[in-house]
Amino acid sequence: MTALHSPHSEAPPEAQARRLGSVRARLAGSPLVRHGGILRTRLVRPADLEALVRDAVESHARATEARVESSADLRGDPERWLESAPGGDAINRFATSEAVLERLRCATDVPWQPAGPGSWSYYRRSGHHLGLHQDLAVCDLAVITCVVDEGDSRDSGVLRLWPSRVRDDLDAIRRDPTGAVDIRLQAGETLVLLGGIVAHQLMPLAPDHVRIVAPLCYQVDPTRPE
Ligand SMILES: [Fe+2]
Repeated sequence: MTALHSPHSEAPPEAQARRLGSVRARLAGSPLVRHGGILRTRLVRPADLEALVRDAVESHARATEARVESSADLRGDPERWLESAPGGDAINRFATSEAVLERLRCATDVPWQPAGPGSWSYYRRSGHHLGLHQDLAVCDLAVITCVVDEGDSRDSGVLRLWPSRVRDDLDAIRRDPTGAVDIRLQAGETLVLLGGIVAHQLMPLAPDHVRIVAPLCYQVDPTRPE
């Protein structure tokens, strides 16, 4: 669900293991891990939502479509069909704001920094989706913010996660998908997720459903005090 799904932005898993290893004990006792590695919250101030929607709509002029119908099960490279675009000033201000960084630190007991610039994902055609995956190693913490969710129905556009299956590989989850948790983010809501550990997917959109999210990636910030 995160922006950095393209294989060229892969980072060595060893580097991620080192980053997370340095904070493992604090993370283990944090509110995020106590909630199974997923935390639904509100990080967008109501007054800022309109600017984020405008950023998402304007950025769509630079969107490109990804349609990948089979996957080698590489991390961060699932089968998928969606549009993505680099974000503008509003999403990057949000991603780097002290208020958001502080909220993330409180949720995890760990300081974070954005792993890269913000982007938007657009799910706006019937069948747009993101297949089952875990996030790239460059993404220690996924922060998924929904800014538009119009015309939803049933499980269209639902984020389906397996927080109780972190020891199972993706094939095992495909064979037996029990234990799923479904979350439908409303506009203005954010999901904080250990996306490299908790498998997740975005269920296919029904006709006339439009959903726009900012899938931000963060890494442990070694320059900040604990
Ligand atoms: Fe993801």
